[in-house]
Amino acid sequence: MSLYICSQCGYGTASWLGRCPQCEQWNTLKKQELTPTESINKNKEMFIITKPSQIKPLTKNRLSTKIYEFDRVLGGGFIPGSVILLTGEPGIGKSTLTLQMLNNFKTLYVSAEESIEQIKNRLDRLKINPKDLDLSNNHQIETIINGIKNSQKKYQVLVIDSIQTVYSRHLDNPIGSLNQLKETINQLINLAKKNNIVIIVIGHITKSGEIAGPKTLEHLVDVVLSFEGEKISNFRILRTYKNRFGSTDEIGIFEMTSEGLNPINNPLVFLDQKMKNAPGMSVVGITEGKRPLFFEIQTLIVNSILPIPRRVVKGIDYNKFLLLLAVLRKYFHFPFDKYDIYLNVIGGVKINSTAAELGIISALISSLKNKPLPKNSLFIGEIGLLGEVRKVFFEEKIIKEAKRLGFKNIYSSKNIQSITEFKKII
Ligand code: TYD
Ligand code: MG
Repeated sequence: MSLYICSQCGYGTASWLGRCPQCEQWNTLKKQELTPTESINKNKEMFIITKPSQIKPLTKNRLSTKIYEFDRVLGGGFIPGSVILLTGEPGIGKSTLTLQMLNNFKTLYVSAEESIEQIKNRLDRLKINPKDLDLSNNHQIETIINGIKNSQKKYQVLVIDSIQTVYSRHLDNPIGSLNQLKETINQLINLAKKNNIVIIVIGHITKSGEIAGPKTLEHLVDVVLSFEGEKISNFRILRTYKNRFGSTDEIGIFEMTSEGLNPINNPLVFLDQKMKNAPGMSVVGITEGKRPLFFEIQTLIVNSILPIPRRVVKGIDYNKFLLLLAVLRKYFHFPFDKYDIYLNVIGGVKINSTAAELGIISALISSLKNKPLPKNSLFIGEIGLLGEVRKVFFEEKIIKEAKRLGFKNIYSSKNIQSITEFKKII
């Protein structure tokens, strides 16, 4: 029996079709003979059980990258034998970040995407010269794996930059297709476990289609990291989406400079209050992972000349913004229909935390009334549909950190129960 499999998305059908019904690509269905028992080991399997107390803990031999922001996201460093998928949009800084943290390891960096001259150029720019770094321009996964197995050097780390550009010679599917991705990652996972080597796999994510992209690989690897940020801003955030050896709560913050990425540990980094106490601006305290961070929200409300007034929102979810406007409309009777409204989170970052909602409302009221919020004020709180101010996770932690940093007027569910009490503030 044979089956037609789409080389882009993996869709299967019994008869040939010109266009894949799932991903809508033309000419991607390829005939494949079904040999279901091929990869199954027919030998009798031994039944083995182990007591948890007999198993050695993994965490003992973590390899520290010496970059604190990176180690924290990993949960303390690399675990030998683990496979880490580092995803992000092209150009965000994945290759740069990877090169910067390999200083202390015996590493093979397979740069299937850029020439080794380009990598050398980048190392010079970063002013680093890792003595134990070897570069390779190979693309065929079997060659790379054999090379490592036969090498005299016992590599600690292997980097594949990127998974979309390496391929297995046993498959006919195009480079970067779903089948190629799965085959190459499986071979890499085997290598990692057998040779106890850390493998960092870089994968691009595109804004539109994630088909045949790194998303499909997420359940196969041990750790999934995502490097995020707007290219127009210098800030980059490293998040964990999956970590078999640690928490997924932590984030790492970096700043892209002309000499590479700088780790940032200062919670006020996003606050550059050039216009202190201008109407329409507020400071919010939120937690990203477990760490308090402070952001400036700016709003601008102006008379509209359009039949449907304009709303331009950057840095928060648009639907959340509409919801907060509806709450304000209900409890303050503001005639928002006459105004164009603009909102921006300074720093080019996106904040998802509900703790920013009180600050967003405050900035909007301040802009509409054209009155600044109190000096040195900070807002922490979620807004309910009934206009109530709700307590957020880690509220005490944010307040404690805010006091330490010198915020004087801290507003949260502790001193303001509902937005109708706003007269206390302005
Ligand atoms: P890169 O690591 O190549 O991104 P990715 O691997 O995710 O595609 O980074 C590319 C961008 O980073 C590029 O536009 C230039 C910028 N950059 C700096 O600003 N400073 C630096 O020191 C380096 C190496 C790159
Ligand atoms: Mg790159």
